[in-house]
Amino acid sequence: MIGAYGLAPEALEALEPRLRGVLEGIRERREQGELPFHDLPYDEAGAAECSRLAEELAAEFDTMIVLGIGGSALGTKAVLDAVPLTLRPRRMAVHVADNVDPTSFSALLASVNLARTCFNVISKSGGTSETLAQLLVVRERLVATVGEQRWPRHIVVTTDPEKGPLRLLAANLGMRSLPVPSGVGGRFSVLSAVGLLPLAAAGIDISLLLAGARHADTLCAVEDPRANPAAMHAALLYLAMQEKRCNIHVLMPYSDGLLRLAEWYGQLWAESLGKARATDGSIVETGQTPVRALGATDQHSQVQLFVEGSRDKVVTFIRVEEHADDITIPKRDGDAEEFSFLGGHTMGELLNMEQQATELALADAGRPTSLLTIRRCDEGALGQIFHLFEVQTLIAGALLGIDPLDQPGVEAGKRLTFAMAGRAGYEPDAERAAAMLARKREDFVLG
Ligand code: PA5
Repeated sequence: MIGAYGLAPEALEALEPRLRGVLEGIRERREQGELPFHDLPYDEAGAAECSRLAEELAAEFDTMIVLGIGGSALGTKAVLDAVPLTLRPRRMAVHVADNVDPTSFSALLASVNLARTCFNVISKSGGTSETLAQLLVVRERLVATVGEQRWPRHIVVTTDPEKGPLRLLAANLGMRSLPVPSGVGGRFSVLSAVGLLPLAAAGIDISLLLAGARHADTLCAVEDPRANPAAMHAALLYLAMQEKRCNIHVLMPYSDGLLRLAEWYGQLWAESLGKARATDGSIVETGQTPVRALGATDQHSQVQLFVEGSRDKVVTFIRVEEHADDITIPKRDGDAEEFSFLGGHTMGELLNMEQQATELALADAGRPTSLLTIRRCDEGALGQIFHLFEVQTLIAGALLGIDPLDQPGVEAGKRLTFAMAGRAGYEPDAERAAAMLARKREDFVLG
């Protein structure tokens, strides 16, 4: 990202004193217990409880369905997609239902044997409409299948340790439950019980996930910003925004299994940095729009835009050195050159050559890129990426002068949803919503 094709080295030099200050500030906040997500990789007792409960559930059920949305779902989905089934012992089939689309939810419920299915209801606040709606539907189906007495046994609640409607429900009905540690926000919670229980249930080695995160933590704790990957990447993305007006960050893994990771990252980067106000209260309306792309597929779709379109993008590639189940492309004597040049390479090699080719094409067009390489798509690598990107987001937030840990814009939408669904206490919001709808022009409706 630095040099002929990107940012001036002087820009990074000039930022360095601030960056050092930011790292120092984060270290102090962490020591004062203000950044509990940072310490999740070290919570051995929490991880052990998730493993124990996963085992207990696997003895009773074949399938687990996670009910949750946003930070309560995206990390789990990322790991389930990334770690190939062939690399993990099968414990339970785990599905994540993170939307209230009736078509897909009905299909999911119809595809499982409810009597052998448990539901991990995950909500930090315990009051998210989508998750509670899913739970109400599930309760009715479970009561019809296993009865009023037994249905709570099919539910495991993961929520705030003390407060919220789900905590109360779990206590009242004696449901099994786990805590989302206080002060850990949804999008920073994948390494807590939020991700660890369903992942352990799916046969993911959560100890390797946490070991990977701890390794990243040592790298991200280095005080010299130049030797600290989270600080360097945050600084480069920040400078790309400030100096080059790159308001879009494309994350482009060259691996199908990592596309969901780019979805997780999209929430982390967008919800953390997209803020109207700085911490001093001034209006900044800042952030960098995350975009998902998939190599090599998007070379035949979005890459034309990345190479030749508006100069408002910075692209980060994720490259996998060793692809699981790699396939050698067969070579046969007599094949024409147009075919034979491919023969003998593996598909994984081809994918990685394409990654490099796209990186060079972008560099040639003067477009900034960065590259993250992992050896394999396994638990260790994912743990490292989660922690690295979370710390990077914290640093970028500090550079932008905003609070990356809140999400007032999400809360606004949640309030209006309550109001429009008729929740008591939200009447003023309902009136405001009605007034806004009255001013709205006619939408297009296609028959
Ligand atoms: O990162 C966040 O805090 C949010 O995206 C939440 O994860 C999301 O809104 C779901 O909230 P909850 O976990 O309270 O149901």
